[in-house]
Amino acid sequence: MTRLLVRDLAQLVTPVRTGAPLRAEALGQVDVVEDAYALCSEGRIEATGRMRDLGPLEGEVEEIDGRGRSAVPGLVDCHTHACFAGDRVDEFALRAAGATYEELHAAGGGILSTVRATRAASEPELEAAVRRHRGWMLAAGTTTFEAKSGYGLDRDTELAQLRAIRAAGGVPTWLGAHTVPPEFADAAAYLDFALAEVLPQAARLAEAADVFLDEGAFDERAARRYLTACGEAGLALRLHGDQFTEQGAIPLGIELGARSVDHLEATGDRGVRALAASKVTGVLLPASALFLGRPMPPARALVDAGAAVALATDFNPGSAFCESLPLVCSLAATQLRLSPAEALAACTVNAAHVLGRAGRKGRIAPGYDADLVLLDATDWRYLAYHLGHDHVAGVVVGGRPAELR
Ligand code: NIG
Ligand code: FE
Repeated sequence: MTRLLVRDLAQLVTPVRTGAPLRAEALGQVDVVEDAYALCSEGRIEATGRMRDLGPLEGEVEEIDGRGRSAVPGLVDCHTHACFAGDRVDEFALRAAGATYEELHAAGGGILSTVRATRAASEPELEAAVRRHRGWMLAAGTTTFEAKSGYGLDRDTELAQLRAIRAAGGVPTWLGAHTVPPEFADAAAYLDFALAEVLPQAARLAEAADVFLDEGAFDERAARRYLTACGEAGLALRLHGDQFTEQGAIPLGIELGARSVDHLEATGDRGVRALAASKVTGVLLPASALFLGRPMPPARALVDAGAAVALATDFNPGSAFCESLPLVCSLAATQLRLSPAEALAACTVNAAHVLGRAGRKGRIAPGYDADLVLLDATDWRYLAYHLGHDHVAGVVVGGRPAELR
């Protein structure tokens, strides 16, 4: 495989520390090399450094001109719902006119409206949808993405979603407990079905399981039952928790050894302290809070207390129709009071940890996968600073330049 040299970069930037998830001061430590190069071979980073220290290279080497660009690690989106059919633009307009997300959900719209559209789609159509969304994400600098099922809630559609996500190169999570579909009387009856009929095959296709633990979705007891069964089947565990109300997601996640509790817009001081004292990562989704006009999660308090945090988009048609991690970094800096460096680590190395890929993804260092984003700025902090800009001048995935759009 031809080696790839990205040369004459204004800056090459990576979170400094190994040992993810990074916490406290370590979260904000990035290494910035000016006038830099990155050499990729066999899909991995072979070497990085200053141009003046780059010796002659033997053999065939393809080059990318990095002048005027800064390179950051390929962004890792550890929380998306990228496998869906249809849209919710009508609901978006209703929300703009004053309806709330919870009202639409309670009236049988919301998640259930996307369930209807997704059930009606064929597996090739679902795969095409994930590939389309993956293209949007890549154009925004995301080189690794997780995606959840949860819009089927019947056996065939849930499994089709997981296969479509895998086929499109995503990291699949079985969100078998997203909401109770209308054909079941209650959560217990639905879980009887889902755990008996879907889990055995979902456990072979997915890497993790996720549950929406909140009022109007699953309560603590049902979430415990679902996650316990999924953990026994070998899946990593994640929770949508404290999005609207605190219903015990953080203590449950800690007790069950979950990888993450995601959302946390409603988390209070006790939850902050508990998460900080645990190994569970808090995944912050500020685009979702923005899109729904909800309070932002207590990010600064979490980081200052020593919690591991990651940032993700929550890309989905209802609560966050946004695939841009650069925009999420801008929200982190302006709304969550995280520094640009903390934001970068949260959507690279810490997000990779949530996906069980720390040590391979999220840093630009020898041995890591050669996934890089070239920003059209000589100062990498423009990633957060230039709000809403189309930052991405180029992307390298697995040591090869990627086609954008
Ligand atoms: O993370 N809160 C639950 N699930 C998603 C929203 C899914 C949807 O509205 O379609 C979320 O916000
Ligand atoms: Fe979500």
